Amino acid sequence: MIKDLTAFYSKAALNMKRSEIRELLKMTRQPDIISFAGGLPDPATFPVKDLEEISCQLLRDKGAIALQYGPTEGEAPLRQEIAKWMSREKATIKPENILITVGSQQGLDIIAKVFLDPHDIVVVEMPTYVGGLQAFNAYRARMIGVPQDTDGMRMDLLEKTLAQLAKRDKKPKFIYVVPDFQNPSGATLSLKRRRQLLDVAHQYEIPIVEDSPYRDLRFVGKSIPAIYSLDSENHIIALSTFSKLLCPGLRLAWIMAPAEWTDRMVVAKQSMDLCSPSYTQLIVAEYLRRGLLQRQIEGICKLYSRKLKIMLDALEKYMPKGVRWSKPKGGLFLWIELPKRMSANDLFPKAVENGVAYVVGTAFHCDGTGQNTMRINFSYPSEPQIVEGIQRLAEMLRANM
Ligand SMILES: Cc1ncc(COP(=O)(O)O)c(C=O)c1O
Repeated sequence: MIKDLTAFYSKAALNMKRSEIRELLKMTRQPDIISFAGGLPDPATFPVKDLEEISCQLLRDKGAIALQYGPTEGEAPLRQEIAKWMSREKATIKPENILITVGSQQGLDIIAKVFLDPHDIVVVEMPTYVGGLQAFNAYRARMIGVPQDTDGMRMDLLEKTLAQLAKRDKKPKFIYVVPDFQNPSGATLSLKRRRQLLDVAHQYEIPIVEDSPYRDLRFVGKSIPAIYSLDSENHIIALSTFSKLLCPGLRLAWIMAPAEWTDRMVVAKQSMDLCSPSYTQLIVAEYLRRGLLQRQIEGICKLYSRKLKIMLDALEKYMPKGVRWSKPKGGLFLWIELPKRMSANDLFPKAVENGVAYVVGTAFHCDGTGQNTMRINFSYPSEPQIVEGIQRLAEMLRANM
């Protein structure tokens, strides 16, 4: 009999960390808790009718293909439609640059699998997307965090970090950024900083992983060019997903990269799942072919911008002095900073007791800092829940100041 079951784990498996957010989410499932903790889209935005109609037609006309194994790189019609969608920003994108994945989370895992050896360095924003940290950590990478402000990653600090590493003959494998309405902070990397980021990446010859699920969910102002659209030197691996544009249940996303890299990533994906589901891919390909996505995005933006406004108004009205929050122009998240001496981690059980939940900011910091910060979500709770939830959060914070 095997007594110590854990003795058989690989070093990589031992290194894997359970997502703090997913654990916390379990605590917040009770019906009386208003949860700002998840990152779920509002189900009212799911295009159920369109998907139902397309799905029925697909099964009727092309059932044999839709229910069969497909190519690892993805179904040709979907790769074509995505290449067309992305070439609005950069004309040279072709279907061979696109690899379809089971969510961007799988995309991050594939990138880590292809690019990272144990102890390789990855530069990340601080804070950054926790699922990115989890994927890179699973391949035993070493993360170095560069702080951000309201304009995204601080380029002066990035340059300093890269120069210091170069002095020690070290070079990161890639720089990971979530440049648009970042999860978790809501910050957007300014155009000036996008150009600076590309300049330093070119100078040091480091690829950039541009993970941008929220790019099209802009509520106000003009879109800032995607980093990949500003690059002409093969430096970008871009990820995007249908999770926040259509629905996460489809589990469909894509990686866009130079063809040589997508080719290698196809091999990495083969051993994971052989292929993404043909069925959902062909549904989405037809959805895009019919030109329905733009209208869908406009509907989402309208709803979420209203919810964001309600949340910002409630924060203004109820939060005690000393608490600060971001004012994003899109996306799903808002970032709260408490006075330095307060700990969002210590306060979490009290928040749950008071009927409200958030995600602690430390989960998004590769160095475990950010004790006084938290992420809250405005897309999922209903409008009355947003007001009530902020009231409960403010009340708990005031009582503990
Ligand atoms: C920045 C970022 N990347 C990737 C993902 C994963 O998305 P998907 O549902 O496509 O796996 C998310 C989901 O919240 C995210 O915020």
